[in-house]
Amino acid sequence: MTLQHVPAGPARASMARELFGRIAPRYDLANRVLSGCLDVWWRRVAASEVAPAPGERILDLCTGTGDLALELERASGHQAAVFGADFSTPMLALAREKHEKAGRVARMTAADGMALPYRDGVFDAVTASFGVRSFADLTLGVREMARVTRPGGRVAILEFTTPEPGLFRQLYLFYLQRVLPFIGDTLSASPGTYAYLPCTVVEFPSQPELARLMADCGLRNVRYRNLTFGVAALHLGTRT
Ligand SMILES: C[S@@+](CC[C@H](N)C(=O)[O-])C[C@H]1O[C@@H](n2cnc3c(N)ncnc32)[C@H](O)[C@@H]1O
Repeated sequence: MTLQHVPAGPARASMARELFGRIAPRYDLANRVLSGCLDVWWRRVAASEVAPAPGERILDLCTGTGDLALELERASGHQAAVFGADFSTPMLALAREKHEKAGRVARMTAADGMALPYRDGVFDAVTASFGVRSFADLTLGVREMARVTRPGGRVAILEFTTPEPGLFRQLYLFYLQRVLPFIGDTLSASPGTYAYLPCTVVEFPSQPELARLMADCGLRNVRYRNLTFGVAALHLGTRT
């Protein structure tokens, strides 16, 4: 798969839904191996920056197998109500199972980030880790995240990014485009699937661009924090 093979708009969304449904059973294993377990740390940083308080209602959109939802729950001392939403039912089934095994209430809902089934302002914080890259319309999706967040609430987006130009970026791009797809396809037993990841990462907006988009979607005080030399970035904003 090359860059031009990741479609835009609704075709991207249906491709993502099918793809994540297919790789769901090995998704966690592939994440840990491909990131050297850094993904666990990145989500932990996101949860601690969101700082869920006891009694708060948090939505983790694009929850996948529910890892960030669990981190948010832990970060609140198990006192916040964390809801997960995703449009892939196989991923949601794994999230439910994981939460039940951990002795947590699994509040998982099948939903599309483009049209969330929630009223305005019902959540104290809304998060999405490694999911918004697949949105059919990034602006519409971020607007939806902001819409369901109460005024003064937080929106957090954790996403892969491309490091600044330099040697590290070159090495990283080599890993991302040449090595990662091979390992990912092997681990997930799904040939040709993991090329999706570099394609969507490389074309994703830069950190300042995403920050501007978030501000245009009704968020203020938007800031970001690069993680692991800019391999990932955490953007945070406050609902106006
Ligand atoms: C790379 S996984 C990330 C899962 C999880 N957040 C994590 O940190 O591992 C992306 C997830 O986003 C979901 N997703 C992508 N676009 C979506 C949309 N428009 N609405 C709901 N879920 C979506 C996919 O189904 C998939 O489970």
